[in-house]
Order: sequence, then structure tokens, then C-alpha cells
Amino acid sequence: MPSAVAGILRNEPLRNHTTIRIGGPARYFARPSTLDELKTAIAFAMDRGIPVYVISGGSDIVFPDRGFDGLVIRMDRIRGVERVDGNLVMAHAGESIPSLAILAEQWGLSGFEYLFGVPGRIGGAVAKNAGAYGLEIGDILEEVEIVTWEGKLVRMGPEDIAIRYRESDVLKYGIVYRAWFRLRHDSPQIIRRRREEFSSRRMSTQPYGVATAGCMFKNPEGHSAGKLLDMAGMKGERRGDVMVSEKHANFFINLGEGRSEDVLYLVDLAKKRVYEEFGIRLEEEVIILR
Ligand code: EPU
Repeated sequence: MPSAVAGILRNEPLRNHTTIRIGGPARYFARPSTLDELKTAIAFAMDRGIPVYVISGGSDIVFPDRGFDGLVIRMDRIRGVERVDGNLVMAHAGESIPSLAILAEQWGLSGFEYLFGVPGRIGGAVAKNAGAYGLEIGDILEEVEIVTWEGKLVRMGPEDIAIRYRESDVLKYGIVYRAWFRLRHDSPQIIRRRREEFSSRRMSTQPYGVATAGCMFKNPEGHSAGKLLDMAGMKGERRGDVMVSEKHANFFINLGEGRSEDVLYLVDLAKKRVYEEFGIRLEEEVIILR
């Protein structure tokens, strides 16, 4: 049913907007294409005092089966990349990491090839400091422009948003609109070789082409969550239509009709087993709204 406010949908099924394909309806849903539309969506929520959740690629999140009683803003239509000067590149929040990696490669700029297989988009990747193969997006982030909850545009550096392992404080201030990255000059052939190498390493160690939210748990200091989960016997554990990957135990796969309560059951089981077996408390990397 269309809402009275242009561009704000009602009861949009969130499973259609998340990589794990789980989640009931969002009471309100906005998919802005411009800065003005984004500001309108923020004002819509602020005026009504309702909670806001921001997604860009829709990875790293499991919404409840009953849905989200607030406004979900999906940033994937805020696109655009620009080479600002020699090795400085600007990308809007909805730009996909693989497309940015390919562009940077053509420009002879290195950094994004490490992140090639990360499913997310720039906004979420900055907010969660996405990383792979020894590089985190925070290592190349120069500046970020945020639309604050009051609707103002502000620029901040990585230290201002307290960027750290798979976390930052961005959401305290507002929503990532665009970001600037300082890359390193290298030959396109060498960057391409690295991209292909990381990509094939990822394909041989992680599930792909299936519905997952990315790594479910953060790596505890000095350990790999995947390895701990594997040793605790979690591979292949299944509840309803959600299953722990046989290939990499830190990925939970939705086989079709998976529900958030199935994910929660397996998350609790995994934490319990790893704690009992190794005395280590795993912490979720994926945000699971309860
Ligand atoms: N391992 C197992 N069994 C498993 C999974 C892994 O024994 O089921 C072992 C591997 O053989 C390897 C070690 O654990 O010896 C580490 O595994 P891997 O190289 O796959 O890396 P990871 O620590 O599990 C991290 C990131 C990934 C990122 C990869 C590649 C986290 C939580 N995970 O995984 O990021 O893609 O390194 O750099 O930081 C994500 O953030 O969503 C994510 C998937």
C-alpha cells in the first residue's frame, strides 16, 4: 500500500533486501536515490520518533520474522564513484565493492582488490570496517561524509568515527552518504593478479552463491571463529531451513524458508558449544535484531 509520503513504502518484506533472505515486513521502507530523498527519509522517521535501521547491501543483518517496527533505509541506489586526484577515490554509500575494485584496478590503484568478494556496499563496509586478507577498509579510509540524524552533512575522519575491528561509531552520528579512500599506485596487471588470487582463495574456503549474512561471529583475539566452530562440531548443524556451512563453519546458510528464530537457535548453540569446549565467548559480527 503506498504511503502518503512519496517514496516511503509500507510493509516491505525485508527478506527481499538481505543477503540471508530472512526478515518480515518493515513498517516503513525507503530506498533513496539522491541526497534530498535520503534527508526526507531521515526527517520522516525523526518527526515520528520511530527507530531507523540502515542497510546498504543487506549483508551482516538478520531481521526478525515478525518484521521491523520502524523505518528501514536501503542505501543501494545512492551510487557514483569519482577519481578525485592521483590516488584519492570517492565512492557513494550504495556503490558495490566489486565494481569499485574493478574501476580502481583499471586506474592502477590498489586496495580494494583484497575486499573483492565482500558482498556489501561501501556504506555498510565503512560502518562495519569490512576486511579480508589482512586489509580493513579503515586502513584506506581518508574521510567519510555523514548525513546526521538532524539532516546536516558532516565530514569525519576514521578516528572521529572510532573505526575498529568490524565496528565503528558511525550510527551514533547518522548515515554514511559517501567516503574517500587513499589507495596505492600499482600496475593494473599486478592488482588484477592479486584480485584473482584472493577471489579464488575465498571461493575455495567460503560458501558462495548461497544465502548467508557473511561471517556470523567476530574472530576472538588470536583465534579464528570458523576454526573453533568447526572443532566444536558445528559444521552441518541444522535448524529448520538454516544450516551451518559444511565448507566454513562461520557461515550460516538459509536453504530456502529459514527463519530468524532458527538463526538464533543455532547462534546460541554455537556459543554454548565453543564456550564449553574452549572457554571462549564468541561475539556476533552479524547484527541479529531480536
Ligand atoms: N578453518 C577451519 N574450519 C572452518 C573454517 C576455517 O579449520 O570451518 C580454519 C582455516 O583452515 C584457517 C583458519 O581457520 O586455517 C582461518 O580461516 P579463514 O582463512 O577462512 O579466515 P577466517 O578467520 O575464518 C576471516 C574473516 C573473513 C574474511 C577471511 C579472509 C572474520 C570474522 N572473518 O575469516 O571475513 O573473508 O578472514 O581474509 O574476521 C566477514 O567479515 O564477514 C568475513 C567472512
